[in-house]
Amino acid sequence: MTHTLAELLSRREPGFSLEREFYNDPGIYDADLDTLFYRDWLYAIPACQLTKTGAYAKVQIGAYNVIIVRGADGEIRAFHNSCRHRGSVLCKAREGHVAKLVCPYHQWTYELDGRLLWARDMGPDFDPSKYSLRPVHLRNLCGLIYICLAEKAPDFDAFADLARPYLEVHDLDRAKVAYSSTIIEKGNWKLVWENNRECYHCGGTHPALCRSFSSDPEIAGVSPDGSISDKLQAHFDRCAAAGAPAQFRLAGFAGQYRLARMPLQDTAVSYTMDGKAAVSRPLGRVALPDAGALLAFHYPSTWNHFLPDISLTFRVVPIGPQETEVTTTWLVDRDAVEGVDYDLKRLTEVWIATNDEDREIVEANQQGINSPAYRPGPYSPEQETGVEQFIDWYIRSMQRGVTPQAMAAE
Ligand code: FES
Ligand SMILES: [Fe+2]
Repeated sequence: MTHTLAELLSRREPGFSLEREFYNDPGIYDADLDTLFYRDWLYAIPACQLTKTGAYAKVQIGAYNVIIVRGADGEIRAFHNSCRHRGSVLCKAREGHVAKLVCPYHQWTYELDGRLLWARDMGPDFDPSKYSLRPVHLRNLCGLIYICLAEKAPDFDAFADLARPYLEVHDLDRAKVAYSSTIIEKGNWKLVWENNRECYHCGGTHPALCRSFSSDPEIAGVSPDGSISDKLQAHFDRCAAAGAPAQFRLAGFAGQYRLARMPLQDTAVSYTMDGKAAVSRPLGRVALPDAGALLAFHYPSTWNHFLPDISLTFRVVPIGPQETEVTTTWLVDRDAVEGVDYDLKRLTEVWIATNDEDREIVEANQQGINSPAYRPGPYSPEQETGVEQFIDWYIRSMQRGVTPQAMAAE
């Protein structure tokens, strides 16, 4: 870096994309992890992914490796995936099922709640109670598991209290995972988000999605003055009257999270090629078939679409300065039967295609930015208010949280 991170943050030009270093510099990537991903609450998995006692999922976030496991008491907990003996990982697979957590190295054996149960030949003075697995903060918000890697987690309640009424009607505790896909996009995590926060690109990129998702900038973005059109307000009111909270809310530090139930295109009710419901046995109690999609995001790790028939969660994990993992999970009612109540291809095809199209444009965006000829360019004031909102959140969060060491790093 030829300029310090502090300089780059402070000289950012509002209304313009960021300078090149923000998208490819390894030092800024590390600062992003330290300042945001290692400190904030992050969406990890839907709780229904762990149906039985001993079911676990592994999540890698930067240098941290975390196991999320369902205990015999039904509680879901998270632990650092590092043995208290000499540090080996306990769970090597991405997901699985265990009776106890047994270290593969010398077989130290832990209960599913993290207590060390057994360690061979450690001498008479060894006290196993001192060597429980190190816990990771975890919250289960209406069936969505969030974790926080920080020693002291920031507040989660403000978000949870705001989101709960919107989420409750979707009954995610009755859900099952119908399908999950993980893709790698060769682009900085901020490019993945910038692309998500506008639909300026949708018409030219997403023929399948555009059958149901409206590219009206009011849907994807935010109005600069916070106003809402009469048409949209009428939709919010109809949803609320049917018991499905819908009002646009942008809250948290610098607008870290947003909730709004947005109408779909014309007569569409779900993300299918014909716009009709994807599942005949709906997940949740949203009585209005055309309620649209509850669009919820929580920077820096997740955006979600909750519809009257299905729910979709997206998880964003940076895996390098120019590489990001995006995991999409399709949730349906646990009693919905594949081949009877839904067809898996019909359920997933729109977003599988859309994700791949987004991957391609994010990668092309990254490649163009890597050229020394790249200069920050202007956002459309009509189409890219959401991108600007994301970048404002990023800059302000980094300015607020960046460590003095990182600020001084050359
Ligand atoms: S490192 Fe886990 S038992 Fe030795
Ligand atoms: Fe897109």
